[in-house]
Amino acid sequence: MKIQSPDKRLLTCAELCRGRRIADIGTDHGYLPCYMAATGLCDSALACDTAPLPLESAREHIAEYGLQDKVTAILSDGLEKVPPEGLTDIVIAGMGGELIASILEKCSWLIETCPPVNLVLQPMTKWDHLRKWLYDNHFLVTDERPCVSGRFVYSVIQTHYTGEKPPYPCDLRYLYCGRVTADSEDGREYLLRQAKRLEAAAKGKTSAGENEAALEMQTLAAEISLRIASQLIIDEK
Ligand SMILES: C[S@@+](CC[C@H](N)C(=O)[O-])C[C@H]1O[C@@H](n2cnc3c(N)ncnc32)[C@H](O)[C@@H]1O
Repeated sequence: MKIQSPDKRLLTCAELCRGRRIADIGTDHGYLPCYMAATGLCDSALACDTAPLPLESAREHIAEYGLQDKVTAILSDGLEKVPPEGLTDIVIAGMGGELIASILEKCSWLIETCPPVNLVLQPMTKWDHLRKWLYDNHFLVTDERPCVSGRFVYSVIQTHYTGEKPPYPCDLRYLYCGRVTADSEDGREYLLRQAKRLEAAAKGKTSAGENEAALEMQTLAAEISLRIASQLIIDEK
């Protein structure tokens, strides 16, 4: 039976994996690990969830496509029960940035794997918290892919532990926009949405009398909008 392709958001996560052995944390129905294993995008996969019901659904999905030899379902809170041996990639998608950071924080072996395990993270909220946590804990963001799916715009972060402070600043631009560039339509859409969020946050800062912070946010929002406008002009030529 031909396996159905997951949505663009999960496909973007798959694209950023190296693909030998992946662990999908918070797998829910297990769509991502099943798709990657069935299509040869990875050799084997662990479909992990903290709740028994979603894991049952993942088990059914694994059986439906006869993937029992390649995909193993594991009941695990975060990475607690995940064996690190041979793991090349960890995907944590569709959760809040704070929860993703706390899952990473609790894992003792994450900074000990050699070569470092490739992390693919897709926060739904609190992306600034996650980006700051990655920066403070010496995880280098190697790629970040924006992704428009339906009326939502996401960003998928690829990162790994280096043990050193990343060579870019942990400034407002990094916290709001990460490494997303204006080179693609999805990238421009993501940046424009973040500019709107900056404008809204600036209003809050102004109301709280934090004028310096408000000005910094307004300036970055204006810079982003201008950059996208000039990129569009370049594209039209
Ligand atoms: C919204 S679903 C996301 C499913 C899929 N990853 C996606 O992006 O479409 C979130 C899943 O994460 C699981 N989850 C929440 N906290 C977790 C934790 N600490 N460890 C593992 N799974 C967790 C939930 O049970 C749920 O199945």
